[in-house]
Amino acid sequence: MSRPFKSVETRHEEEREGVLRALRGLNRRDFMRVSLGALQAAAAANVLFNPHSFCPIRVVSGAEGTPAEGFRIAYISDSHLYRKELNDRFVRNLLRAVDDVNALDPQPDFVLYGGDLAQLGQKEELDLGARILRGVKAPVRMMVGEHDWYLDLGARWQELFGKPHYSFDHKGVRFVVLNSVVEEDFWTARKLTPMERMQTVAGLDNGKQNPFTVGAAQRAWLEKDLGGLAPGVPVVVFSHSPLYKLYKPWNFWTDDAEEVQRILGRFDRVVVIHGHTHQVLTNRIGNIHFHGMLSTAWPWPYAPQGLPELTVQMNRPDPFNPGDGCGDGTVRVHPDGLVDKIYALWNRNPMTVSRAYMTSGGKKDAPPRPGSPSY
Ligand SMILES: [Fe+2]
Ligand SMILES: [Fe+2]
Repeated sequence: MSRPFKSVETRHEEEREGVLRALRGLNRRDFMRVSLGALQAAAAANVLFNPHSFCPIRVVSGAEGTPAEGFRIAYISDSHLYRKELNDRFVRNLLRAVDDVNALDPQPDFVLYGGDLAQLGQKEELDLGARILRGVKAPVRMMVGEHDWYLDLGARWQELFGKPHYSFDHKGVRFVVLNSVVEEDFWTARKLTPMERMQTVAGLDNGKQNPFTVGAAQRAWLEKDLGGLAPGVPVVVFSHSPLYKLYKPWNFWTDDAEEVQRILGRFDRVVVIHGHTHQVLTNRIGNIHFHGMLSTAWPWPYAPQGLPELTVQMNRPDPFNPGDGCGDGTVRVHPDGLVDKIYALWNRNPMTVSRAYMTSGGKKDAPPRPGSPSY
């Protein structure tokens, strides 16, 4: 008789349940032995074992663990889920990120999902992602990526998550979520099928697609949305692509970036947090501080040209260490609206790109430079 099919989430949940059951069945002496073993293993790897999660997590020492003014949010990004029959590693990685943010104590005020939840915009992929993200304890704010959009031009994503651009106020900060992956129609004239269109956009370095934009309609909306705010109000913008021009051949680029920056230019302090580049990436243009997010699926190499001066590159990922160079993270939002960006890299020490580093133009509080080359 064939065994019943079990989804990867079911198996993951069963494994966790099994460990919990086994722990409950241990007598005190065995429990102490298991606990000591786990602690020794964690200490050897320079990680702390969080009792609320079966994923060992690295913790940031010092300021991260102490009560502070301002507030904290968390992020998960770029999970690129295939259907689970095709790739369950990426599914497990997203589950790991959900465990990480659920284990944060105190909990973040909300969790930003940074886009590219799906790999090819398929209903099964988006539905699977939505189901997994329902396991996040804190409220989740969604952002769209190009991999979510170009199969059905956002139809399923919007059914699940609503509008791709919106704003909200939280503790004195105006947060804005943009859809920065708007592309002009390159598919109709070429008579591409929806899947051909999706695969063209998903291929980062093909020459057929158009560059990403925020687009005139959304820029007009943004200007109006921010219109009533005084220049001193802190503004934090979430975009999938970086809102500057880094490297066009890979679409690490937003074509109308300068126009968006002009709208943001009248504020004293603006932070832009973006996905898409799957790496530690830091930039500053005038009053705007830019921070990239890690991916849970894979790290991209650094662009061969144009890397912003403030970026301290993360180490080259170890190909034999699954999940290395991936991760999730948190953002400490200070009362002035500027942030410390914490990269919770899996299997490594975390990296913090602090407000002081950004405001001093890299002179103060620089993150430790890695000992080996990036790419
Ligand atoms: Fe991505
Ligand atoms: Fe992307």
